[in-house]
Amino acid sequence: MANSRWPGWSEKTLDERTSMLLASGTLTPADLRVLRAETSETLSSADQRVENVIGIHSVPWAIATNFRVNGEDVLVPMVIEEPSVVAAASHAAKLVRRSGGFQAEATAHLMRGQIQLVGCPDGVGAERRLLDEREGLLDLAGSSHASLIARGGGPRDLIVRWVGAMLVVELLVDTADAMGANLINTMMEGLAPVVERIAGGRALLRILSNYADTCLGRASCVVDPNVLGRPGYPGTRVRDDIVAASQFAEEDVRRAVTHNKGIMNGVDAVVLATGNDWRAVEAGAHAYAARNGRYGALATWRVNERGQLVGQLEMPLALGTAGAAIRVQPTVPVALKLMGDPSARKLAEIVAAVGLGQNLAALLALVTDGIQRGHMRLHARSAARITAAAPVEGP
Ligand code: HMG
Repeated sequence: MANSRWPGWSEKTLDERTSMLLASGTLTPADLRVLRAETSETLSSADQRVENVIGIHSVPWAIATNFRVNGEDVLVPMVIEEPSVVAAASHAAKLVRRSGGFQAEATAHLMRGQIQLVGCPDGVGAERRLLDEREGLLDLAGSSHASLIARGGGPRDLIVRWVGAMLVVELLVDTADAMGANLINTMMEGLAPVVERIAGGRALLRILSNYADTCLGRASCVVDPNVLGRPGYPGTRVRDDIVAASQFAEEDVRRAVTHNKGIMNGVDAVVLATGNDWRAVEAGAHAYAARNGRYGALATWRVNERGQLVGQLEMPLALGTAGAAIRVQPTVPVALKLMGDPSARKLAEIVAAVGLGQNLAALLALVTDGIQRGHMRLHARSAARITAAAPVEGP
């Protein structure tokens, strides 16, 4: 895995950064041609991907440095239009790596499909019959997906739930390295007629659930207070103020939404770079933040018995690194290659670490100089470049 500590990288020019990437063998000239749109999405490929196309909207593709996750360095691709997000992620990763980097884990990659049954004349009997047929239904669901089974995935559990007066059949499927939305939808549509026959009702919706609480990413980090100090702000005070900022988000929905937005700055940027569905991740993340009946913080900060700041993040991260859908975008294989071609679970670990780091950078700025100094410095830089590049209107 490439060393992710590239001191001064941010101060280099684009040409210098390019030379460093090529000289280190991190990316090849062919990779860069893809990233620089020379062989990337064309108007005609865009026209084949979505409907009513008339153009292409491009977004910067950047690399966050300094990340170490589970003892391994990783350069993180980020696709984002907002200034200061990449700098902030790299900044937090630089601080965290001084105490060993992020620890992260991902649960099993289980996605959930739902069949909504309506009009069951004998609901209680239907529930019992469905549970009696559980093993057969699981076999049936897997039977037309031999390649998934060969990759170590497949249906794992079948649950029957009551939602009001409706019966809902849920299938939990290990989708291996695929995000699996299409696969689950196909499975649910295939299973529905059999479920209808057993239950005696009508299968209405047959669809993936984006509430991916069986596909979680977790990250944690420990930061010494001396790493947090800056002129006028002793490290222990910054540490305690970050905890107070965390408690604010944990207690107040109005703050929690912004706290989580900062986390999603980083999460979405990597999700986009890797061709994953950021709307699905966003929807799942915010629902998970409200799982205890009140919307709260996805990442929290406390002080441990050694006086160190400890951050923890847990959120649904249903991501894929395989499958045709995510590789349609030509830049995606380059993003995955940069990260060492991770499995879906490993990608979830990296993304969880980025989300936690993004939160640390934002809170650190907020409890010291305020967000505007660093953020607006980079905003101003970006605005100045845009102004300088703007075409001068003729008479
Ligand atoms: P600084 O302390 O002035 O940075 O922070 P530094 O010059 O000492 O550099 C430290 C490291 O930061 C560098 O180390 C870089 O890694 C990185 P190196 O690796 O070079 O040895 N870095 C940069 N990377 C790329 N380009 C740059 C750059 N500058 C530093 N130009 C910094 C400056 C902006 C990093 C800091 O002020 C910061 O992290 N601010 C937070 C910015 C932020 O969170 N932006 C997100 C948008 S705001 C938002 O939407 C979310 C929010 O509302 C969420 C919430 O409320 O919780 C805030």
